[in-house]
Amino acid sequence: MAGFLNRAVPVALLLLAGAPMAWAQAPASEEARAIEFGKEIFKTKARCQFCHKWDGTGDQGYGGNALSLRKTQLSREQLTEVVKCGRLSTEMPYHDKFGYTDKRCFGVTREQAGADMPPEANQYLQASEIAAVTQYVFARIVGKGETTYAECVDFWGKDTQQCEPLKP
Ligand code: HEC
Repeated sequence: MAGFLNRAVPVALLLLAGAPMAWAQAPASEEARAIEFGKEIFKTKARCQFCHKWDGTGDQGYGGNALSLRKTQLSREQLTEVVKCGRLSTEMPYHDKFGYTDKRCFGVTREQAGADMPPEANQYLQASEIAAVTQYVFARIVGKGETTYAECVDFWGKDTQQCEPLKP
């Protein structure tokens, strides 16, 4: 017990000392962390970039005509719904595991959606992951105009070959 206290007290003091600063910085760094988390989902876990391209300009290839996320007119709420539920009768996959089990998506079950069922995501996402990827899309993609070299280096973490054509 004494040993535990000896270790616990300095740790508690350190936490207390750090608290006011961490508190003051919380909003900005928390947002940055959420965006980074959302980016990883966009890139790797949900592979949004597979169909919408890394910069969200959209693509005509795999998965049909994946719309431009740079030019989307959707609100945050609508975009969140698209990620959760996908789009009926299109190749936009749904990412909420329970999307079509309890009618939370468009008021229909899988059976009722029938042939209009959107494809299942390659990996389902938790609500927090859907929130993060939505936050990322709004922070870095929606309304951004022409794709830039800086965006490319930021997305890939380095100057990859596909950034070459964008070099100023
Ligand atoms: C398998 C390919 C594929 C994947 C993976 C995919 N999408 Fe899509 N997405 C599409 C297609 C195709 C459409 C067009 C649907 C339509 O015609 O309305 C679309 C539409 C959308 C739209 C609607 C845009 C608008 O303006 O109406 C949003 C938002 C969207 N996708 C976001 C995402 C996000 C975020 C991810 C990753 C979590 C993702 N998509 C993963 C294929 C894909």
